[in-house]
Amino acid sequence: MHVFHTTRALRAFLDSQCGKRVGFVPTMGNLHAGHCQLVSLAKAQADIVVVSIFVNPLQFGANEDFGNYPRTLQVDCAQLEQVGADVVFAPAVEEMYPDFDGADLKQTVLVQPPPFADMLCGASRPGHFAGVATVVTKLFHLVMPHLAVFGKKDYQQLLVIRALVRQLNFDIEIVAGETLREASGLAMSSRNGYLSADEKVQAAQLYAQLQQIKSALLAGERDYVGITAKAVARLQQWGWQVDYVEIRAQQDLSRPAPETRGCVVLAAARLGNTRLIDNIEVLLD
Ligand code: PAJ
Repeated sequence: MHVFHTTRALRAFLDSQCGKRVGFVPTMGNLHAGHCQLVSLAKAQADIVVVSIFVNPLQFGANEDFGNYPRTLQVDCAQLEQVGADVVFAPAVEEMYPDFDGADLKQTVLVQPPPFADMLCGASRPGHFAGVATVVTKLFHLVMPHLAVFGKKDYQQLLVIRALVRQLNFDIEIVAGETLREASGLAMSSRNGYLSADEKVQAAQLYAQLQQIKSALLAGERDYVGITAKAVARLQQWGWQVDYVEIRAQQDLSRPAPETRGCVVLAAARLGNTRLIDNIEVLLD
């Protein structure tokens, strides 16, 4: 497995591999089994798999955890070697942001995501999806993959990336990976490491609420506002600070119309200082 820190080294290697189908898995590192599953998915459909590890400052708000975000490159590389990744691209901030002056990224050219990026997580994290769209565009230009894998865990992000690829005419196939969970149902996440032992037990309540909403929908309930309000109230009672629990259309995250069949229940909530997100797809009949 090759580990590159510069674009020049990455490109020199990939240019020597012409004719091969390149799969790409962008990450921020501190990898867990969910990330590794995405790498396996890429491996199954590509000749070479590139994994990027870059904690992207542009997608973090001023009061968010950019400084504390766990950086574990050595352990990550050992895991990636095990799962058969071919290349790790781990650039420094100045490599990704050429005008960075040590304090300010000076990234004035931004990729503006579609309007649905302003709701749900975009409402609580202004500028987040523009930061994601901009860095993913840069990474696509550098890696030039044939396919790229993103997890459904970040459902809104996946839809932003699909829109970006379509509207910027990237010739890249986007593959969606299922969410890998702990035995408790808690979606694996690098941020779970912030949770205390007690909080980690409690954190499973989030997915349990999503499952309960799914059951209600499958049982024929259609009072979307009422169902989600109950889940919010329960989570709040248990000490969560809830950003949102919403039932939306899978296709574009709009509110479901009477004829909408593919729905997704999405939630974001804080336990202590840790913000967790999760979702579950529901096919109505
Ligand atoms: P990160 O949070 O490291 O996630 C990298 C990829 O792993 C994303 O596509 C995410 O959806 C997926 N993922 C996370 N947890 C998962 C789980 N439990 N099961 C399956 N897949 C999971 O998402 C980002 O990084 C960044 O925003 C990035 C796209 C790299 C841009 O900076």
